[in-house]
Amino acid sequence: MEVDLPQGWEEAARRIAEERPRRVLVLGETDTGKSTFIRFLLKTLLGSGVRCSLVDADIGQKDLGPPATVTLGEFQFLYELRLGKVGAMYFVGSTSPRRHLLPLLVGTSLLLERARGEVAVVNTTGFVRNAGFALKGFKIELLKPELVIALQRGRELEPLLRSYAHVPCLRLQVSARAKPKSFEERRALRREAFRRYFSPAREKRLSMEEVRFQRVSVAGEGDAEAGARLRRNLLVGLADERGEVLGLGIVKSLDGRALSVLTPVREEVAVVQPGSLLLRESGEELGFVRW
Ligand SMILES: Nc1ncnc2c1ncn2[C@@H]1O[C@H](COP(=O)(O)OP(=O)(O)OP(=O)(O)O)[C@@H](O)[C@H]1O
Ligand SMILES: [Mg+2]
Repeated sequence: MEVDLPQGWEEAARRIAEERPRRVLVLGETDTGKSTFIRFLLKTLLGSGVRCSLVDADIGQKDLGPPATVTLGEFQFLYELRLGKVGAMYFVGSTSPRRHLLPLLVGTSLLLERARGEVAVVNTTGFVRNAGFALKGFKIELLKPELVIALQRGRELEPLLRSYAHVPCLRLQVSARAKPKSFEERRALRREAFRRYFSPAREKRLSMEEVRFQRVSVAGEGDAEAGARLRRNLLVGLADERGEVLGLGIVKSLDGRALSVLTPVREEVAVVQPGSLLLRESGEELGFVRW
């Protein structure tokens, strides 16, 4: 697909390649072209020989890795951008930031801290109004971007940008070719992303005595509580001994002693992080559990 370059896009990318701000935060409502601009920016950076990182915190409409996660990618060459290898993952637990603001912020901050590129670009959700306004504000305070890229159709980001006027900001036009996706299209894109992620999945049995649970208290509270939390189809994060996320799983069954999950993860799992989304391996979303 050919990319339309509205006035200011090339200039912004060129400036970023020259000045190399360490952390660039990209803000914009849904469908304003965040992903398109970021792809163009990363290509420009790589074309100028600048090593770059992408922290993809848009948990609903991911460019890198499966939904419900924050991911980190490291790129030195253009082909690596095309491969889109996930270097590190943090499990947020949901495809929506609502009720998951804390893991979303923690994950974005942790992965940005680990980014090794000369320039690290952070993609965000299009959630910028109401609670999204607070979320984006806290994100700016926590991540301390050296540059904010603001993609806006009108003046919808101005209240936020005014609150953080001390942070350098480039305001960019939204392309006339930017086309909105319906709720159904978004859902279909997530379904396809999950389906692809889980296509090499196999069933893995985890001993309830050996694994540890994080985020919700499960172990030691009796089977009733465990059963209530670890429902069939619940999306979970699977991590190693140090809590480093290896990938995602879908709960298949819990028979008291063993938790069976469907997962593409082959490594040994020491930690289970229950999320709140109920999902089929086909990628179909079945709803949420209370968190
Ligand atoms: N500059 C552009 N040139 C051509 N097409 C564009 C451009 N900007 C956006 N689009 C198109 O508009 C749609 C939305 O753009 P994009 O996915 O980049 O937005 P986004 O802000 O990342 O959306 P989301 O909220 O889903 O993450 C896509 O189909 C994309 O191809
Ligand atoms: Mg996007």
